[in-house]
Amino acid sequence: MSTSTYKERGVMFPSDVVPRSNLELLKTFDIRDDDIMLITYPKTGTHWLHQVVKLILAEHGVTDEKYLGNSPNLIEITRPVIGPLAEMIKTVPSPRVLATHVPVEFLPDGLLGSKAKTVVLMRNPKDTAVSMFHFAQTSTVLPTPESWDSFAQQFLAGDCPWGSFYDHVLGYWKLKDQHNILFLKYEDMKKDLPAEVKKLCFFLGRPLTDETVQTVVGATQFDSMKKTFGEKGQRNTRKGVIGDWKNYFSDDQSRAYDEQYRERLSNTGLEFQFE
Ligand code: A3P
Repeated sequence: MSTSTYKERGVMFPSDVVPRSNLELLKTFDIRDDDIMLITYPKTGTHWLHQVVKLILAEHGVTDEKYLGNSPNLIEITRPVIGPLAEMIKTVPSPRVLATHVPVEFLPDGLLGSKAKTVVLMRNPKDTAVSMFHFAQTSTVLPTPESWDSFAQQFLAGDCPWGSFYDHVLGYWKLKDQHNILFLKYEDMKKDLPAEVKKLCFFLGRPLTDETVQTVVGATQFDSMKKTFGEKGQRNTRKGVIGDWKNYFSDDQSRAYDEQYRERLSNTGLEFQFE
């Protein structure tokens, strides 16, 4: 594993996580009409969303319960697609759940004109930056930040893995009027998970009873996920709160982020909650 990166169309990618050749393969990736595509900028609740979707499908008997956490139906399509995984992507039964962090311009050409359903999960940029900073500090595949101050600056400049936060979210937000795309926010999931689970169920055409919604909610609340992931030695759960940024941002940093927030999001209809 290495922490080397490269840039493609101005976006930084970690070489070991997203080999350049995969970006080319991704463009021509064969989309099926019943694929479910899960899109996240890193550290915005990717594993949380994956787990919720897998459980909804499991309740419908689509995903085998025993595969939860490492389901063959859920494939991160920009990971090195080699050997068995490449074959699995082609042969795995529908509905496939595909996941990626790439900005919209890197998506398979066939996705947006297809009937496949796309879910985009977003989180406020300050908490996302703090979460990425922590992750990168111990990551074997991302460049190690020198300090919080230098990382906060790089994130603001879009000079971080998977590129500018705002380019990413706005690239997808432009598609908001399409009927087969659903936008979710981390903060809404934190504040009312049952409502967001129901929204997802409706969008995916997989309704659940109130009781089963509660089962999904119980299994995907932070403490449950920390336990499940912790037992597997994975570190996809840290604090899991809204507003941890206040423990890291100086007043100047906060002002600079607020200014960029206004510049990039005013008149777009997109907004985030910071607490
Ligand atoms: P923090 O670092 O702020 O704690 P990703 O899966 O995209 O890498 O996102 C990781 C972030 O989501 C981490 O944020 C992690 O703690 C948080 N997270 C993971 N599971 C969660 C859950 N069930 N509820 C709330 N937050 C969760």
